[in-house]
Amino acid sequence: MECFLPFFRFDKINFCKMKRYTLSIGAEIKLPLLIALLLTSQICFADEPLSIKNLRTEYHENPSGIDVEKPRFSWTLEGDGRNRSQSGYQIVVASSTQKLNAGDWDIWDSGKVNSDRTNQIVYEGSSLQSGSKYFWKVKTWDETGVASGWSAEANWSMGLLNFSDWNGKFIGLDVGHQTGNKYDSLYLPPARYLRKSFNIQKKIKKATAYTTALGLYELRLNGSKVGEYYFLPGWTDYNKRVYYQTFDITKELKVGENVVGAVVADGWYSGYIGYALLVRLDKVRGFYGENPSFMGQILIEYEDGSKEVIVSDTSWKANQGAIREADILMGESHDARLNNSGWDAPGFDDNSWKRPKIYTHPNGRLQAYPGSLIEERERLISKKVTEPKPGTYVFDLGKNIAGIAELKVQGPKGTSIELKYGEILNADGTVLTENLRRARATDTYILNGEGTEVWQPKFTYHGFQYVQVTGFSSKPDVDAITGIVMSSIETNASSFSSSSNMNNILFENIKTTQSANFFEVPTDCPQRDERLGWTGDAQTYCRSATYNSDASAFFTKFLIDLDDAQRWYGAYPNFAPFPYSRPNQYAPAWMDAGVIIPYNMYKVYGDTRIVEYMYPGMQKFMEFQADASTDYLRPGGGNNWGDWLSVNEKTSHDYIGSSFYGYDADLMAQMAKALGKNDDYEKYKSLFENIKKAFSKKYILENGYTTEDTQTTYALALYFNLYPEELAQKGADRLAEKIRLNGNKFSTGFLGTKHVMLALSKYGHDDLSYKLFQQTEYPSWGYSVVNGSTSIWERWNSYTKDADENSSLNSAMNSFSHYAFGSVAEWMFIHGLGIDTEDAGFRNIIIKPAVSKEIGFMKGSYDCINGTIASNWELKGNKLTMKVFVPVNTQAKVYIPSAKPSAIKEGKLNLSKVDAVKILESGSEEMVVQIGSGDYTFTTIIN
Ligand code: BGC
Repeated sequence: MECFLPFFRFDKINFCKMKRYTLSIGAEIKLPLLIALLLTSQICFADEPLSIKNLRTEYHENPSGIDVEKPRFSWTLEGDGRNRSQSGYQIVVASSTQKLNAGDWDIWDSGKVNSDRTNQIVYEGSSLQSGSKYFWKVKTWDETGVASGWSAEANWSMGLLNFSDWNGKFIGLDVGHQTGNKYDSLYLPPARYLRKSFNIQKKIKKATAYTTALGLYELRLNGSKVGEYYFLPGWTDYNKRVYYQTFDITKELKVGENVVGAVVADGWYSGYIGYALLVRLDKVRGFYGENPSFMGQILIEYEDGSKEVIVSDTSWKANQGAIREADILMGESHDARLNNSGWDAPGFDDNSWKRPKIYTHPNGRLQAYPGSLIEERERLISKKVTEPKPGTYVFDLGKNIAGIAELKVQGPKGTSIELKYGEILNADGTVLTENLRRARATDTYILNGEGTEVWQPKFTYHGFQYVQVTGFSSKPDVDAITGIVMSSIETNASSFSSSSNMNNILFENIKTTQSANFFEVPTDCPQRDERLGWTGDAQTYCRSATYNSDASAFFTKFLIDLDDAQRWYGAYPNFAPFPYSRPNQYAPAWMDAGVIIPYNMYKVYGDTRIVEYMYPGMQKFMEFQADASTDYLRPGGGNNWGDWLSVNEKTSHDYIGSSFYGYDADLMAQMAKALGKNDDYEKYKSLFENIKKAFSKKYILENGYTTEDTQTTYALALYFNLYPEELAQKGADRLAEKIRLNGNKFSTGFLGTKHVMLALSKYGHDDLSYKLFQQTEYPSWGYSVVNGSTSIWERWNSYTKDADENSSLNSAMNSFSHYAFGSVAEWMFIHGLGIDTEDAGFRNIIIKPAVSKEIGFMKGSYDCINGTIASNWELKGNKLTMKVFVPVNTQAKVYIPSAKPSAIKEGKLNLSKVDAVKILESGSEEMVVQIGSGDYTFTTIIN
């Protein structure tokens, strides 16, 4: 029990809850008596028991069909009052809801575990069975030993764990092959339709579908799509692994005739990928195989205990249908006259359909999908429709997204509607498509003429704000086109607002662009013939990504891709998956994603399992770097993009190579320590020291300048701790001076930009960070905002409102949806709002906002793995108010800048009188205090 009185405030009492308070000796007391006691003496009473939220298994809410042998559990805690924490937990797992509720925990009972852990808790019960479903709940004990109630129930199911569990064959349909010249003409084969009718005579207890494809598939059952996902089964190196999905279809089946169907298209497996066509690689499509195929099985368990399995085999029927072309980059064509209406439902005559063709099993292992699948995230109504040319209509969806357009149309049979997509408009109001390069990005729909027709493509997506439509006989209504925003993630983990409207728009733009590019893999951009998991972009943005979304499962999946794509000699590639057969595809600061992203998974989510998984590869990568180095300096090597898209300053590739090598060594040491690999910890620590010595000898001058004197050189060396301690401040001051001399503007590209912000704040130049943050002249983030952007651009100057200047831009290499420069989100949260984690996993939180008169207030929150952290600060003249909230089971170090630390108040009391606040350090201009969970308001005066 906690003595609460010293900081008791009546405005905070929730009287409704008061009758549940008990004396420390446990006796119940009446309300008037309690008030009297409160007023006269120091009594102790318990807070409400903790409540348990957000139960997750392997980062997912109630996942279907996982194949992790020992899944990890997590939850968050909520509770009134301050300093609340967990002292113990009990997890129970049962084979049914009934058993779970009856206390018959036949699968696992952890018993009471005295622990404050609420995540990364490993299942330790008996071995989990293929195809079984499990139900779990958790109970916790708080800091005083008071038990919570049981949490709500959660569940997960296991997928098919053994190869022998799979009985289906990969089935498809031969539709011919490419004949023309592969560079000059596109080959876009039709989708394949597969169906099987089967009869059910008995009452069903449970039915589950396990399905996958080489290519993309949509599963259909009795006339409807199964599940809400797109782009199944996901993109992998299909020679190494092929993911499958598990769907509970108990409710979709019925007694009598049932029909299962699958539509299959090329996708990443056999369609066009990336820039292969543009640069005329040996292969331009079909990187993993020529023909898409489907494989799956439905397991039906009957009430009478018997079972039946429907598998994909030659008893199915196959045909072509309405989807005449389907390619991720090129678009989709749908001829609704060929709809074969009812093909996926009972009662359809499939006599004219063929037997499917059997394709060989891929080399890759069948595995459950570990990431976050692509879903519809938002529907956008068009803001306006224009007619720049007679019969050509342009729909403006208001923001630059990734996804598809849903078409609503009525007209005569055979009418062809063409949809083209673009991010910006030409001067004449038509969509600009030059920057799509060889991505045709065109969809076509041919009407069947039967009333209002609503259509969405299934196997393509585009990066766009505008849809240009031709084929309407008259001006269409605004609802003829609806934008469907698709993404693997939801950007809902944080909030941010400030007194700068420009910066608030910037935050929205960052989220929009993250959403558009967290699309199965972290793509560079969603529109042109690229859309690859570029590693440089991903490493620079990964920490920002975790602030804006729960990216844990998404990055888990991507790291498996990266590990699969590691070059045999140890380098990580330029992008992953890596479908091309090109040697030497690596680059400094791109390949380092193989170390930086796992480190961030550890830092943000406390995830040591993924670090363990990546560890052998990371060690090999470190050896590759050691081999390539001379006296601890790693040269640029490989592809050299340097500080990609920097402005007026070039940092040498060798400098970048060596600085990232040092950073890797430091992160490896921290990860080795986290895994308890002490020898490796020592090894990487001393490697870091050696690199630092060699690096500073070569690149840092005695006056603190770098030899190359670019903004990026300072930012990298300072942020990566490669400066000799005594020179670091001088280096930071020189960086600041250079920025001022440059008119408070950047000269940096993908690598330097966020590190400039982080390095400035690290060395006391917050005011200057804010000048950069709020800058609106090129190059700056503000420049894109004032030029009307709704997204983050690839280039600092992708576009200007000035039409003349636009003509000089490189329009073929100019994406309007590139998240790399959005990596300022990391600075916004770590420094602007000041929300960071001291160790790994946000148990020991840091609240250290960069309070500055350059901006009036900042307000925001972040849902970390332990719950919501909030930090609001506001300056009114010299008066600073900081409102902080940290979740149950965490503590925070709060840094309060103050002209008079001894006069800081929390609520109405002087800090020294608030028991819940522990003063750690009191300097002349700052006070550092420690708080436990709860909300706090600090007020003070600053200089
Ligand atoms: C991509 C980048 C990527 C780069 C390598 C580009 O084409 O769009 O974002 O990192 O290539 O320089």
